[in-house]
Amino acid sequence: MLQSIFAAMEDWEISQIITDEPFWFPALETLHVGALTFVVGTILFVDLRLMGLAGRYEPARTSLRILSLTWAAFAIAAASGTLMFAPAAARYAANSAFQLKMLAMALAGLNMLAFHFGPWRRIASWNEGRPPASARACGLVSMALWIAAVILGRYVPFTQ
Ligand code: HEM
Repeated sequence: MLQSIFAAMEDWEISQIITDEPFWFPALETLHVGALTFVVGTILFVDLRLMGLAGRYEPARTSLRILSLTWAAFAIAAASGTLMFAPAAARYAANSAFQLKMLAMALAGLNMLAFHFGPWRRIASWNEGRPPASARACGLVSMALWIAAVILGRYVPFTQ
């Protein structure tokens, strides 16, 4: 099932163009790096606020307002990533660094949900002050997982 999806992606017309024209892969990778820098950079600022290590005089709710732009940058990272992935989909899917990078991002998504349905619901009580242990834990886990995603992404071309 997955193998046929990967084979179909490799056959996309756009995959042929990305393979044949040397301009496209580095251009997509440049876009990818620009977008992921914004994603990870803004998330790390929010994580530091949640951990009570930076911006502690700023209401937590205010720090989180940047996240709508983070989602827009994530859409650019996901689109450029998918376009780089498509021409060699089966090879990337079998690459252990790539698999771990996807796992790190999936776990970061679950951590975000845990924050949303946990400490975020009680934000009125800690908005102006030190976040509770649950929020600090979400910030720490988020920071670790996003840094791992960046390192693993860099290792993809050097890994089987
Ligand atoms: C915002 C989340 C993401 C982060 C932090 C991230 C991180 C990275 C990093 C650090 C690189 C190496 C860039 C370089 O060395 O020039 C990379 C490359 C890549 N990423 Fe992502 N990425 C993200 C999202 C995605 C998504 C959603 C996909 C899609 C399936 C994807 C697919 C790829 C591919 C195919 C490469 C090229 C690997 C190679 O060099 O052959 N990425 N990513």
